[in-house]
Amino acid sequence: MTIINSNKLTLSGVTSSADFEVFLPELDGDLLLDQDEEWCEVLVDGRRDRIRFHDYHRIYDIPGMYERLFYDMLECVSPRLVRDLLATALADHAMNPENLRVLDVGAGNGMVGEEIRTLGVETVHGVDILEEAAAATRRDRPNVYDDYLVADLTDLTLEQHDVLVHADLNTMTTVAALGFGDIPPAAFVGAFNLIETPGLLAFTIKDDFLRDNDPSGFSRLIQRMLAEKTIVPLAVKHYRHRLSVHGKPLDYIAFVARKTGDVPVAWVR
Ligand SMILES: C[S@@+](CC[C@H](N)C(=O)[O-])C[C@H]1O[C@@H](n2cnc3c(N)ncnc32)[C@H](O)[C@@H]1O
Repeated sequence: MTIINSNKLTLSGVTSSADFEVFLPELDGDLLLDQDEEWCEVLVDGRRDRIRFHDYHRIYDIPGMYERLFYDMLECVSPRLVRDLLATALADHAMNPENLRVLDVGAGNGMVGEEIRTLGVETVHGVDILEEAAAATRRDRPNVYDDYLVADLTDLTLEQHDVLVHADLNTMTTVAALGFGDIPPAAFVGAFNLIETPGLLAFTIKDDFLRDNDPSGFSRLIQRMLAEKTIVPLAVKHYRHRLSVHGKPLDYIAFVARKTGDVPVAWVR
C-alpha cells in the first residue's frame, strides 16, 4: 500500500460552482495513490473536507459533486461508452431496445440509467447498496428508473430477491462498480442469475481484474463464463475509463454479451 506523507501534498483548486469547490491533490515526486486510495477535498459552506473517492455516500450527498469530480475533472466516459457499445451490439444483431428490461447494478445517482433510456429502453430498474445513491437519483434524475431498490447484492433479503425476480428483467448493466470493495464476484453472479435466459449483459471492469494473477476473483469468473459459454460476447472494447488523480489513464474493458444460462454459485465459492 502506498503511504502518503500529507506534508508532501499540495492542493490545487480545479473547479468551482456556486455551491462547492473541488480540489485534487497534487502529489510530490513519485508518491502514487492506488485507485482505491484516491481522494479530493471539497469546500462546502466555508468548510473544507477530505473525501475518499470510494466514500460515495458523501459524494452523492453534495448535489453535482459526482458529475463534477468524475466526469468534468477526471473525464470519465463509461456510462456513455457502454450505451454506445450496447447500441452497436443491438443494431448488429437486429435486437430492438424496446424489448430490453434492464437491471442497472450499482446504479449510483442514475447516470447509466439515464444513458440507457436514450436508446429507447422502456424498463429500467436500479439497485444500489447506498440510500444516498437512491436519494441522489430521486433528487437529480427522478424519472430514470421504474424502481430503485436499496439493497446489498451480497445479502439480498427474500423480499428484495422476489421484487427483482418479479420484475422479469432480461438485461443487466453494471458500470464502474465491480471490485475495489464494491460489488464482489458473488454479488455479480447473484444479480446475473436474476436476469432471464436468454438475456443480455453489459458491464465494465478494470482491465487488471481480468489478468491471470488477479486476486479479486473476477478474472477466473469471467474466463469461466466465457469458456462455458454462459455468456457469448457481442461487443468488447478496451478503453480509458477516466484519469487518475495523477492524470494517468485508468484502463477498463467494456463487454456486451448474450446470456445463455445461469452461473452455478459454486463457481464463486
Ligand atoms: C463508481 S459507482 C458507479 C455508479 C454508476 N454505475 C456510474 O457509473 O455512475 C459504484 C456504485 O456501486 C455501488 N455498490 C457497491 N457495492 C455494492 C453492493 N454490494 N450492492 C449494490 N451496490 C453496490 C456503490 O454504492 C456505488 O454507487
